[in-house]
Amino acid sequence: MGRLSGKVAIITGAASGQGAAEARLFAREGAKVVATDIQIELLENVVMEIVASGGEAIAVQHDVTNEEQWNEVVKITVGTYGKLDTLVNNAGIGGAPGFALIDDVDLAAWNKFMTVNSTSQFLGIKSVIPELRKSGGGSIVNISSMAGLVGGAAGIHYTASKGAIRLLSKDAAVELGPDNIRVNSVHPGFIDTPMVSIVTENEDATKAALMGIPLGRAAQPEEVANLVLFLASDESSYITGAEIAIDGGATAK
Ligand SMILES: NC(=O)c1ccc[n+]([C@@H]2O[C@H](COP(=O)([O-])OP(=O)(O)OC[C@H]3O[C@@H](n4cnc5c(N)ncnc54)[C@H](O)[C@@H]3O)[C@@H](O)[C@H]2O)c1
Repeated sequence: MGRLSGKVAIITGAASGQGAAEARLFAREGAKVVATDIQIELLENVVMEIVASGGEAIAVQHDVTNEEQWNEVVKITVGTYGKLDTLVNNAGIGGAPGFALIDDVDLAAWNKFMTVNSTSQFLGIKSVIPELRKSGGGSIVNISSMAGLVGGAAGIHYTASKGAIRLLSKDAAVELGPDNIRVNSVHPGFIDTPMVSIVTENEDATKAALMGIPLGRAAQPEEVANLVLFLASDESSYITGAEIAIDGGATAK
């Protein structure tokens, strides 16, 4: 029996990095996975790999800022797998440490980050609630960032967009607790994915980033996937409204 046997999960941003690692791990643990992303070719490769290794998954092209597409994703999920138990709101766009001073952030950039990183998660929560209620409850995991806990890491627009996730998660946890729907936020630090290639491809930038991390290294996306799996599974049945840092100790200082 897998740790997610019998569960149906939507994972956004599953074409790359952490979302792809979560899709692979969820499927290995028995979940039926609806993997979504705007990058459809990459996404289809991830799903083909999952299916080839015996997992159950489908790929759906999906822009998380679009409310109609959210409703369509939920419809496809229920049409394909009959129900829904879990949403991982993972899709997002990144800031580059040290590269975005407040003076250089214009309104368009601010609005873009708020829309893609936080409004998208509100839309996701709103669109899945009816089906989670029908399932008798569920788990929503919202991917924020360590920049959602402390300032100064990645530019004001990124930090504010990730900070909003922390409290939208707590608010939803309070409101949806009576429906047995758990909502938690995950706050990754420096994770080795394409989002931070601007850092990992530059030796000095990497050294500077590692200096702030007690464990002295970046994490692999699979390490975040392990935490998200736990939060999606019934093993975390009494955890809701929690914010969990997975940052090698960076925000412990
Ligand atoms: N990598 C890090 O160091 C780090 C640190 C903290 C938080 N995060 C967060 O983790 C999450 C996953 O990022 P990652 O590191 O795997 O990066 P990534 O760039 O590898 O993956 C992000 C995915 O989100 C998708 N995406 C972007 N905009 C979208 C949209 N409008 N609709 C649908 N999909 C969209 C991209 O196509 C991509 O596949 C993001 O929310 C990111 O902000 C990453």
